Amino acid sequence: MAVGIDDIALYIPRLFVDARDFAKARGMDPDKLQRGLGISKMAMVDTNQDPACMAANACLRIMERSKLAPKDVGRLYVATESSLDESKAMNSYVIGMLEQIYGDDSFGHCGGIECKFACVSGSYALYDNSNWIRAGESGGKSAIVVVSDIAKYDLGSSGEYTQGAGAIAMLVNDNPRIMQFDPKVTSTSIKNEYDFYRPFGKETPIVHGQYSNLLYMIQVKKALMSYKEKALSTGLMKLKEGETILDYIDFLNMHLPYSNMGKKALSYLIRHEWRKLPRWKKIIEKMGMEEPIPKDPRGTIESVLADSEFMAKDHEFTKKFAKTEEFQDVYEQKLASSLIASQMIGNLYTASLYLGFRSCLEFEFQKGTDLEGKRVGFGSYGSGSSAMVFSGVIAPEYKEIVKDMNLESEMGNRIKLSLEEYEEIHENKRGPNENLLDSKKEFVLVDVESSPEIKGQRKYIYKE
Ligand code: CAA
Repeated sequence: MAVGIDDIALYIPRLFVDARDFAKARGMDPDKLQRGLGISKMAMVDTNQDPACMAANACLRIMERSKLAPKDVGRLYVATESSLDESKAMNSYVIGMLEQIYGDDSFGHCGGIECKFACVSGSYALYDNSNWIRAGESGGKSAIVVVSDIAKYDLGSSGEYTQGAGAIAMLVNDNPRIMQFDPKVTSTSIKNEYDFYRPFGKETPIVHGQYSNLLYMIQVKKALMSYKEKALSTGLMKLKEGETILDYIDFLNMHLPYSNMGKKALSYLIRHEWRKLPRWKKIIEKMGMEEPIPKDPRGTIESVLADSEFMAKDHEFTKKFAKTEEFQDVYEQKLASSLIASQMIGNLYTASLYLGFRSCLEFEFQKGTDLEGKRVGFGSYGSGSSAMVFSGVIAPEYKEIVKDMNLESEMGNRIKLSLEEYEEIHENKRGPNENLLDSKKEFVLVDVESSPEIKGQRKYIYKE
C-alpha cells in the first residue's frame, strides 16, 4: 500500500526580526548570522499567537486547500516542544478551534495525541500515522499531522539568533499526491542526553550549543547506518562497486535549527559514507590534507570535544572539503533548495525539517526540475536525543500541489519588529490583547484565565 504525504500547508507568523538589525543591537558581525549560520530573518509570534493557534491555522489551510470535511479526517496529531499544558494535549485546543468553523462535535470521531521528543517528534507522528493507515485501521480516512513550535531562547544567549516560529500541517493517506514513504526502511537512534532540554516551568531551554551540533550529527549518522542496512536487505537499493546509498537519494532534507546546520550535517554524513570509497582517495589527494583522527580512539563525544587540536584540524578539514567540486555538486543538487525557507524564517523546531521539504519542493519546481520518481531522504533530529532517517518517492501527481506553493504569498505581508518591540514581546511584557498586528481569517488567542478554579484555560476566536 502506498502511504505518504498528500498535501502540506504552513502557517508562519507575519512578524519578524531582521538578522542585520539583531546583530547590530548585540554588537555582532552580521556576517556571522548571514554567512556563518545562514540566518536572515526570524519569524516571531504576536502577543495573541501561540503554538496551538498556529497549528489550528495550518490545519484550517490544509482542510480548505484539499477540500476536506471533518469526516475525511480520522486522526489529528500535534507534535510540539512548546507544550501549553502538562496534561491537556495541544490537539484538543486545535479541535476546539476547528469546530468554531466546522460546527460543534464535527471532529468528535477523530483521535489523536500531542507528541513530544524535541524536534524529532513530528517524524514519529508521521511514521505512527502512516502505520495506522498501513494496518488498515483508518477506514479510508486521512490523518493530519501538525508540527508547531516557537523556538525561543534567553535574551543575550548564543541560541537567541536561532529563534523562529511557525506550524506545518501534513495530510497523510493511502493515495498521496506529493510523496510515498519507502516502506520498511525507517530507522531510529536514541540515547539519554542533555544537549538541549527545557525543565518544567522554564520557558526557554538549557542548551549546550556545540555539544548539540555534534550530537545531532552522530545520532543522525547512527540512524542512517541502520537505514542503510534496511535499504540493502529489503532490496530498496542495490549498490555497485564504489557506490554509497547517498548516490541513490536524490534530495536530502535535514533538521534545520539554522540553515547552515544542514550543510554541516551533509558534509559529516558524506565524509562518513565516502571515506572507504575509491573516490575519497582522489578527493584527499586534491585537498592536500589527510582527514584528522581524534587522539582518544574511543571517539566519545566528550573526548572529541575536549581534543582541541583535533577539533581545530577537523574544522579546517571540513572547510576545505566543503569547497571541493565533489561536495559542492552534492550540496547544490541534493540540499541547497531545502535551505532557502529556513534562511527566511528561522528555527521551527519540530517543523524545521518539513519547512525544508516544503522549500525543496517549491524551489526545485521553480527551477524546472522534474521531481517525479525522485527519492527524498529525511534526517530528523530531536535533542535529548533521538534521530530518525526515512525516505520517500515523489508521486506522479505532485505538480498538482506544488505548482500553487508560494512561500512569500502564503506568509503574507511580513512586518519587521524593532529590537525594542521584539524584546517587549520576548519578555512577555504585553498581554494577549496588546497585539501589534490586525489579524484576518485566522485563529488568535484572546484570553488565558488566571482565577484558581479555571487557571490556564485558553480562549481562541476566529477573526473574520
Ligand atoms: N563571518 C562569517 N562567519 C562567521 C563569523 C563571521 N564574522 N563569525 C563566526 N562565523 C561562523 C563560524 O565559523 C561558524 O561556522 P562553522 O561552524 O562553519 O565554522 C558559525 O559562524 C557559527 O559560529 P560559532 O560556532 O562560533 O557560533 P556560536 O558559538 O554562536 O554557536 C550555535 C552557534 C551552537 C548554533 C548556537 O547558536 C546555539 O547554541 N544554538 C541553539 C542550539 C542549536 O541550534 N543546536 C543545533 C543542534 S541541536 C538541534 O538541532 C535541536 C534544536 O533544534 C535546538
